[in-house]
Amino acid sequence: MSKTAVYGFYYGEIAGFGSTDAVSMLTRLDIHNVRNLAQVRLTDLSPANILYGANGSGKTSVLESIHLLSAARSFRSYTARSVISHGAGNLTVYGEVSSGNEERDARERSLGVQRHRNGDADIRISGLPVRSAAHLAAELPVLVLNSDSFDLLTGSPRDRRRFLDWGVFHVEHTFFTVWQRYQRCIRQRNTLLRRGNIRDAELMSWTHELAAAGESLTLSRQVYFSRLSTRFAQVVASVLPDSLPVTLQFRRGWDRERSLLEVLNAGLVVDLEQGFTHSGPQRADIRILAGDASASDTLSRGQQKLVVSALKLAQGHLFAEDGGGDRCIFLLDDLPSELDDEHLRLVCEEVEQTRAQVFISCIDLADLHDVWRPPDPLSVFHVEHGQIVKEK
Ligand SMILES: Nc1ncnc2c1ncn2[C@@H]1O[C@H](COP(=O)(O)OP(=O)(O)OP(=O)(O)O)[C@@H](O)[C@H]1O
Ligand SMILES: [Mg+2]
Repeated sequence: MSKTAVYGFYYGEIAGFGSTDAVSMLTRLDIHNVRNLAQVRLTDLSPANILYGANGSGKTSVLESIHLLSAARSFRSYTARSVISHGAGNLTVYGEVSSGNEERDARERSLGVQRHRNGDADIRISGLPVRSAAHLAAELPVLVLNSDSFDLLTGSPRDRRRFLDWGVFHVEHTFFTVWQRYQRCIRQRNTLLRRGNIRDAELMSWTHELAAAGESLTLSRQVYFSRLSTRFAQVVASVLPDSLPVTLQFRRGWDRERSLLEVLNAGLVVDLEQGFTHSGPQRADIRILAGDASASDTLSRGQQKLVVSALKLAQGHLFAEDGGGDRCIFLLDDLPSELDDEHLRLVCEEVEQTRAQVFISCIDLADLHDVWRPPDPLSVFHVEHGQIVKEK
């Protein structure tokens, strides 16, 4: 597979969540040359899995491997080089996924991802090569909660748009097509803007097309956002009962009172001067407020973690509601950090209610011992110097 196909994964990732039969439970995982994990095999994975061990033992690397299996790329970057073990030419992750539920046809799939230092990727599903990482995401929908998740509060609007679109693409199966159309239109329009001809008929035509796609995309975002904010309100009230009310507001990316076409036409001169389109869904954002102020300025670090947990959990709940009982997979890296026992217990209860398969990492097993008591079967793995032993 070419590098481009993997770098284009953002599109593919989104396409995956539009799949109708995405569900999944990972039952086995083989890891080869991911960071300090030279050769690891995890079998009999459960609905709930805990990985514990000292700093630097390899816990995050296991979660990273599951993410690689879902996206063919690392948590943080599109390049695989940093996660390939030092001195190795490539990494390989292989997983077995059982999909479906008892009422529907259950099916088994194997997923394989190999990433090379030159950026190339080989992706296989049930032994057959596939071109796009989108297919992986459809088999293994993953939600991650790690230290990068604070970007939902403190990062750029792009982080929040990606978060929102994860959910929209999953529930709205036509959204990916509209989203692709919007991306094509904006690229074309920006190219024409740089030519600088205000009377360009082609520019007018792309502006109309862009406005239509932008309105449609935004409508889907608004519908999903409305459900998300309701769900979020419930979850955040459960996990953070003792704080100022935390609320979400959607900003669509242009003036609320006017159509996108009106705004694009009104802004044409400025767009021509600067060579790009200023208004539209590419500027959308979610404001996260504690009381009347920005949550990132107001809340403590632990409270911020509870808010980002509630955002991801709300998505997990909506996924479960839309997926006909299917599961997504939660990767909760170092879950206990920054949370006291009581808040950790509240988060664990919510995680369990999403019915997601869950992989939780922590340093000390005792941190989770008293708070994680799900009815689901639980597997416990001890991670030590890149070796993993199943204890339960
Ligand atoms: N490309 C690489 N090749 C080999 N080892 C690497 C590579 N990248 C990182 N490492 C090492 O892998 C080890 C495991 O890292 P990992 O982040 O999985 O640890 P962890 O168990 O999550 O630790 P912590 O509790 O501190 O979060 C670390 O010692 C890290 O330095
Ligand atoms: Mg870690």
